[in-house]
Amino acid sequence: MRRRQKKNFLELDLSRSGRTAGPHLAATATNARTASSGVTRLPHRRKGDTEGAARPHAILITMEVTLRPARPDERPWLFDLHEAAMRPMVEEVFGAWDRTDQLRRFEERAEDLVEVIEADGRAVGAIHLATDDDGSVVIGLVEVLPACQGLGIGGQAIRVTCERAAREGRHVSLRVRKPNRARRLYERLGFAVEGENETHYLMRKT
Ligand SMILES: CC(C)(COP(=O)(O)OP(=O)(O)OC[C@H]1O[C@@H](n2cnc3c(N)ncnc32)[C@H](O)[C@@H]1OP(=O)(O)O)[C@@H](O)C(=O)NCCC(=O)NCCS
Repeated sequence: MRRRQKKNFLELDLSRSGRTAGPHLAATATNARTASSGVTRLPHRRKGDTEGAARPHAILITMEVTLRPARPDERPWLFDLHEAAMRPMVEEVFGAWDRTDQLRRFEERAEDLVEVIEADGRAVGAIHLATDDDGSVVIGLVEVLPACQGLGIGGQAIRVTCERAAREGRHVSLRVRKPNRARRLYERLGFAVEGENETHYLMRKT
């Protein structure tokens, strides 16, 4: 059996999450299987399953999640991603997606360091980082394409960002709109609410 050699691999059991493998995920699985990554695929078992009893409908997907700086020519794609990820929430809160206003707000973040989140080399999300007055890292936006949400990708990207910040001796903070269930993810990753205003919680990695 070959040993796992790279960090940041995710092993996903779609049967557990209730998701089915769409074209993207199927392609991802194929890539992972053929990549010379040193990843070994094992039949997936749940706690309590008997030895050797692979569940018939389990689909095990292994992905490598990486971050790389966005290229300037990716701004249109980044805005498309922003719309795909945020539009449902914006429409729910504000009643409509005003593209001009959203594009203006998006461009106000042009100074952010933007990292593209890749899963097995495919761009599936982005994380926008700024630096606060005290030197801490501020996650301004974190977004994953809807088809790829809930698979552990965003969490892994935030984890990598936090580990990097910790190595640099920097705290990480973010804001989350109060009803946004992303708060649960942030809490699982070690963020705690430090403050709030009428609409948002301010969270900091403890
Ligand atoms: C928030 C987001 C970046 C998380 O990335 P992800 O790859 O989906 O997250 P993971 O699979 O690692 O973790 C799953 C958790 O993400 C959050 N999440 C998943 N889908 C979400 C969605 N559509 N909206 C908000 N949060 C979501 C939940 O907290 C979920 O945990 P739960 O199943 O206990 O509710 C991604 O879902 C997304 O882009 N959502 C829409 C945009 C958004 O709300 N961004 C955050 C603004 S603060």
